[in-house]
Amino acid sequence: DTNQMPREEGIDHSLSLIREGYLYISNRCQSFNSNIFETRLLGKKAICMVGKDAAQVFYDNEKFMREDAAPNRVVLTLFGKNGVQALDGKSHQHRKEMFMSIMSPEGLNKLKDITKHQWEKTLDKWEQMDKVILYEEAKGIMYRVACQWAGVPIQEDEVNRWTRDLGAMFESAAEVGPAHWLGRNARNQVEKWVGELIEKVRDGKVTPPEDTALHRFSWHRDLDGNLLNTEIAAVEVINILRPIVAIAIFINFIALAVYHYPEEREKLKSDDGKYAQMIVQEVRRFYPFFPFVGARVKKDFTWGGYKFEKDTLTLLDLYATNHDPEVWGNPEKFNPERFADWDDSPFSFIPQGGGDYSLGHRCAGEWVTIEVMKVSLDYLANRLEYEVPDQDLSYSMVRIPSIPHSKIVLKSVKRKI
Ligand code: HEM
Repeated sequence: DTNQMPREEGIDHSLSLIREGYLYISNRCQSFNSNIFETRLLGKKAICMVGKDAAQVFYDNEKFMREDAAPNRVVLTLFGKNGVQALDGKSHQHRKEMFMSIMSPEGLNKLKDITKHQWEKTLDKWEQMDKVILYEEAKGIMYRVACQWAGVPIQEDEVNRWTRDLGAMFESAAEVGPAHWLGRNARNQVEKWVGELIEKVRDGKVTPPEDTALHRFSWHRDLDGNLLNTEIAAVEVINILRPIVAIAIFINFIALAVYHYPEEREKLKSDDGKYAQMIVQEVRRFYPFFPFVGARVKKDFTWGGYKFEKDTLTLLDLYATNHDPEVWGNPEKFNPERFADWDDSPFSFIPQGGGDYSLGHRCAGEWVTIEVMKVSLDYLANRLEYEVPDQDLSYSMVRIPSIPHSKIVLKSVKRKI
């Protein structure tokens, strides 16, 4: 016997989702007093859910699949066509291994060194500047980090252009109208550039180091023993470059946390690295970034007394799961201490998705993100002096992705002696 899920009446609620952003799912969960409800999105029945148990069922490969789960507007801006995000089963596992193979301890150490080097180079420039717009600058730092780590040659006269275009891909993912077209155009340009680069690697005209994404993805063979076609290889290299640039958003939230919670900055002074990790985890839990992930029901099943019908689009709310009071005491308080003895559950703390890296769709770049954030925290909290002039530091709970409105202006930046 099954029950009817709490249901939002009406023909379609896609517009409410755009209007309410990060809060669309939790607003309805509150009014239904339920962590699951049915609605209609993109003209079809859809299920929305929140919480650790929901995450566990969402990441069960027997129950959900990703084929045709992402709306076209997201594919044409954020994801790209035929990338790892839309694969299932063995072909997903094989492609995911390609990604995870570059996430080795050596690879991550190299990334840390590259990130420090780029911060140092940027500081030379910032010390000459009256004011710095952190969001724009951080995207520039991260573009260089992304290219250097991925083995992509940097052409100085194209840095601004590709930084802007890679940014436009994630800035436009939830946009409609002109901003959406900007994102689509950016993706077309970047895919062309990276596609040509992959052909040059295959022709021996560009030779990136062997442990880099550009080398590995150019020479990766699918389960039939064939190289990826150029478009797909480009989409996957961009699946490394674009999200590394997107870490700029978390760098902004780190700066915000350092400013709003000076007592946390103090605790870093006698830290052996553990407290820095706790702050980074709390930044990833506390602030809004990736709102929800989507999948489709693979075959009919029942869960929690509710029926899930094959093909139904199902959204898992990442932000609300990270703020679920059942798991997180006082969730609206910024409190790194909560990570001192955290149980490492793969389903309750899911800013970059949940479940297993190799078998599921959990973010391939979670360790990359954490390492880059720790280096950036060290600079923003320990190694620099700067003023934070009056500005609008608030951030939207509606606009996706959320970025502090002022993009964080810093003045008179200097190295601490
Ligand atoms: C997937 C978030 C950084 C590469 C994902 C997913 C989320 C996410 C929510 C989807 C999980 C799912 O579908 O269940 C983030 C956030 C980041 C970030 C908030 C912060 C900037 C990165 C970085 C990289 C990366 C730095 C690469 C170096 C990927 C890839 C996937 C993915 C390849 C697809 C995995 C798959 O489908 O199996 N990320 N990510 N991400 N991310 Fe990230």
